[in-house]
Amino acid sequence: ANPSFALNPSLGFAAVPPTRSDNATVPAGYKAQTLAPWGTPLTGSYPAYKADGSNSGAEQEQQVGSHHDGMHYFPMASNPNGHGLLCVNHEYVDQYNLHQGGAINSNPRPEDQVRKEIAAHGVSVIEVKKDPFTGEWGVVQGGYNRRITANTPMEIRGPVRGSDFVKTKYSPDGTMTRGTINNCGHGYTPWGTYLTCEENWSGYFVNRTGRPREHARYGVSTSAGRYRWETAQGGADQYIRFDASVKAADPVDDYRNEPNGQGWIVEIDPFNPNSTPKKRTAMGRFGHEGCWLSPPQLGQPVVFYSGDDAQNEYVYKFVTKARYSKNVNGDILDQGTLYVARFNDDGTGEWLALDINDLAFQAAAFAKGVAFADQADVLVNTRLAADVVGATKMDRPEWGTVHPQTREVYMTMTNNGSRNAGNIDAANPRGPNPYGHIIRWREQGNRSWATKFEWDIFVLGGIESDSQVLPEQGGPALTQDNIFASPDGLWLDQNGILWIQTDMSGSQQLSGPFGANQMLAANPISGEIKRFLVGPNDQETTGVVSTPDGKNLFVNFQHPGDRSSASLGFTSNWPDHGAVYRQPGDAVVVADPVGPRPRSSTIVITREDGGVVGL
Ligand code: FEO
Ligand code: CA
Ligand code: CA
Ligand code: CA
Repeated sequence: ANPSFALNPSLGFAAVPPTRSDNATVPAGYKAQTLAPWGTPLTGSYPAYKADGSNSGAEQEQQVGSHHDGMHYFPMASNPNGHGLLCVNHEYVDQYNLHQGGAINSNPRPEDQVRKEIAAHGVSVIEVKKDPFTGEWGVVQGGYNRRITANTPMEIRGPVRGSDFVKTKYSPDGTMTRGTINNCGHGYTPWGTYLTCEENWSGYFVNRTGRPREHARYGVSTSAGRYRWETAQGGADQYIRFDASVKAADPVDDYRNEPNGQGWIVEIDPFNPNSTPKKRTAMGRFGHEGCWLSPPQLGQPVVFYSGDDAQNEYVYKFVTKARYSKNVNGDILDQGTLYVARFNDDGTGEWLALDINDLAFQAAAFAKGVAFADQADVLVNTRLAADVVGATKMDRPEWGTVHPQTREVYMTMTNNGSRNAGNIDAANPRGPNPYGHIIRWREQGNRSWATKFEWDIFVLGGIESDSQVLPEQGGPALTQDNIFASPDGLWLDQNGILWIQTDMSGSQQLSGPFGANQMLAANPISGEIKRFLVGPNDQETTGVVSTPDGKNLFVNFQHPGDRSSASLGFTSNWPDHGAVYRQPGDAVVVADPVGPRPRSSTIVITREDGGVVGL
């Protein structure tokens, strides 16, 4: 970064202390409201949310899904700061909180519970509007609203389309698949579409008959799917497809290739509710956390960064073959080069092509004795291809973000329980690494499509005695104003504020000094960091975007009360217990185990004086 031309934001709020409260805690002078919690009527007959959890699967298909995660706001041209489409990912479900009386996990599982769980996954496209008199945001019951679920038909595009890897009983020619699963982070494109990213999809499938490498390397289960959807009563095709065991002589007579339809980046046109989502296979198959655009330049390739969130996995980028112009559309994502990162210990780095036609890639594969038949094979087995070229194994890459002016890239490495003192490197310098860190890099010549870069560490998260801001510059340790662990969500806003969101585990929240999961604001130039927001019980804070004027900040609280069970009851009652937010010094809100069931939700944070959030 060149500080002389970079945005240099001052953080104009008092830090919120680490706290635990079953509510949102915002700085003095700020307020918050909930928007579109799980179960909000969205499409069709707009079925009302039933607080006892008794909504059916068919009703869930017409309501906002659960476990809000990555999201983007697409403004309406006529009123960009007060009216737009909010696209929200729904990563997974907590069965106890989803169903009346909890999940029935008999074998087979009740069909309607499975249908409801499938429908609570995916994406919501939500038309949202701000009331000009009250300042409150609400959901518009209009024609843009859409539910995309783990059962929605999708087109397979790019080099894997039509290959043997994706031929199924559902699509014998390998051009279609159903559903998007475990949608974590997100992205958006310069041509106005949304990207949803498939992260921990592998555990939803089971293969009991010996897994090919494109299942085994990703962790497809050998015993049962995560929610055992494959056992749904009645055995309908859309459920038993989650069993990828070999059952027939011909691959298109069973479901062995169903898992190969997952692990991709999916493009959705939010302004066309009848459009078919497209899986953009040229961008690789792994545990996609998200997909982050580098600000495009006319006449140059378009570049997206992506991370594979699993222990000791990799950082990737995709460079389109076609050059950017005002006329391009999503089809330019079907041709390009996928690269994986090597972070050298001397602060330099290289992007290594995963391309069957690249001589260095061919030589590396040959040297390792690994064969790939074609580019479809490379892409379906992206993790293996990255192993072959010697990419750097990272401490669980989560979100990235690109500076709007400098194009410097920041990415969270959330934590890594399998790193130890014997396998640290400069880019992953702590073993074990329970607290995580944020790394950043600058592409050679400030060209996002370059194949070389320089990197450093922005902050080592952690407790006051084991943390440091800008370690290579000898920066300070974190303090009570900003200690955090397990950074996950990350966003550089239009004013150059770096927003950092945390996903600490239950034990890290309950027994550590950090309080509940939270969001902090940072100045990427000075290294100043302040805690801005702390969320309710058991949630993770994830997903952040604002209106173009920066005055309405949308944030998600995912899985409040995720420790709920028959014995503990609901461990959060947020948001339906009535309180919306508190400021430091206000009474702490305590969950009542017999109170309302918790609901993942978006919140909208504004300043009481109507100013820009964070400054
Ligand atoms: Fe779904 Fe890596 O967080
Ligand atoms: Ca999550
Ligand atoms: Ca995440
Ligand atoms: Ca996480």
